[in-house]
Amino acid sequence: MKKLPLLVFLVSILSIFNVTLAHANGEATYKQVCFSCHGAGVAGAPKVGDKAKWAPLIKEGQIHITSDGYSGVRAMPAKGGKPDLSVEQFASAVVYMANQSGASWSDPDPKTLAIINEKIEKRQKKSAKK
Ligand code: HEC
Repeated sequence: MKKLPLLVFLVSILSIFNVTLAHANGEATYKQVCFSCHGAGVAGAPKVGDKAKWAPLIKEGQIHITSDGYSGVRAMPAKGGKPDLSVEQFASAVVYMANQSGASWSDPDPKTLAIINEKIEKRQKKSAKK
């Protein structure tokens, strides 16, 4: 049974990996989905860390820019271009980006999330009419 320690080792590595995936946070989403544009400021995307660019967005507020960004604004693709990205994941990535750029937001609580969802639905209905 020489292989048993190896097996135990592999299983524990895998479970650590699983936990990391389950707790996918804003930073991880940012790096996977948003960094390609917001890292360098591609196509006019507000660059993370550019406080002058972010100040007006931070002023508009978390609810506003999260729902706008999720729905898509001009060159900003809806859901950051990742169709299966949830509102929660998107919102956390926004928090991460804003906090690198002068804000001190936290992940939206259920009440805030409900307002964000409502705004996203309204925007979807509006664009469906056009
Ligand atoms: C294909 C490039 C691209 C990707 C990928 C992208 N963005 Fe953007 N984003 C933009 C651009 C361009 C703008 C500026 C839109 C404008 O105001 O004209 C923008 C603007 C925003 C805004 C401000 C919205 C507002 O109300 O003005 C937020 C918030 C945002 N992005 C969040 C994200 C998040 C979170 C992700 C990843 C999940 C992401 N973006 C991925 C290009 C991108």
